[in-house]
Amino acid sequence: MSKQSLDRILQSQGFGTRKWCAGLVADGNVRIGGETVTDDRARFETDGLEFSVYDEPWLFREHIYIALHKPADYECSRKPSHHPGVLSLLPEQFTNRDVQPVGRLDHDTTGLLLMSDDGSFIHKQSSPKHHVPKVYVATTHDPVTPQLIEHLLKGVKLNDEPAPLSAVLCEKLDEQQLKIVLEQGKYHQVKRMLAAAGNHCTALCRTQIGELTLEALGLDAGEWCYLNDKELALLKPLA
Ligand code: URA
Repeated sequence: MSKQSLDRILQSQGFGTRKWCAGLVADGNVRIGGETVTDDRARFETDGLEFSVYDEPWLFREHIYIALHKPADYECSRKPSHHPGVLSLLPEQFTNRDVQPVGRLDHDTTGLLLMSDDGSFIHKQSSPKHHVPKVYVATTHDPVTPQLIEHLLKGVKLNDEPAPLSAVLCEKLDEQQLKIVLEQGKYHQVKRMLAAAGNHCTALCRTQIGELTLEALGLDAGEWCYLNDKELALLKPLA
């Protein structure tokens, strides 16, 4: 439980500098419990605080944890160069709060992308020690053969990787489509593994992280949602 002044609360939620937030309040743009609050130094309990800015409702969140259905042609990097960044799909308050992707998907990869402003969550989720499986559906140029599946399960040697990398699980979904589950998150890993196994990835979608599925979240490409505690608990290594 902690009480904070309204200007600081708004600043922490990504509405701008403290001075700017004080102005927002003084100008009558902020309401709490249906009442306009014009005193920027008024203190409020932040836990569960609901407020609106320019009539848009917000809930105070100490940290933000979201899932985005990343569309193709968006970059995960902080300074995108060839395509717009994934942050452009989110409210600008999230950029101000330094929300970042947890790991990266290639610009042409679609699917489930976690984002947060909680550094320790990002670190934990990205750590190779964490072993959270990531499920991808890959479309291939050449047909998916039993040999390809076997190769990916046994392990393939990639340049600049000391040991072969293998899929935790791999199965054919269609003539030119397979499901591959990885526990590591190496650069271009699926594409490089498929290439090393003699095929070529023509499209890639991440459908699941841990036990959290894109399907259960019901997000269309470009849509995002906050993750609740139950959903966050699904981001775990397989039992
Ligand atoms: N593997 C890839 O090759 N690309 C991605 O975006 C994710 C995993």
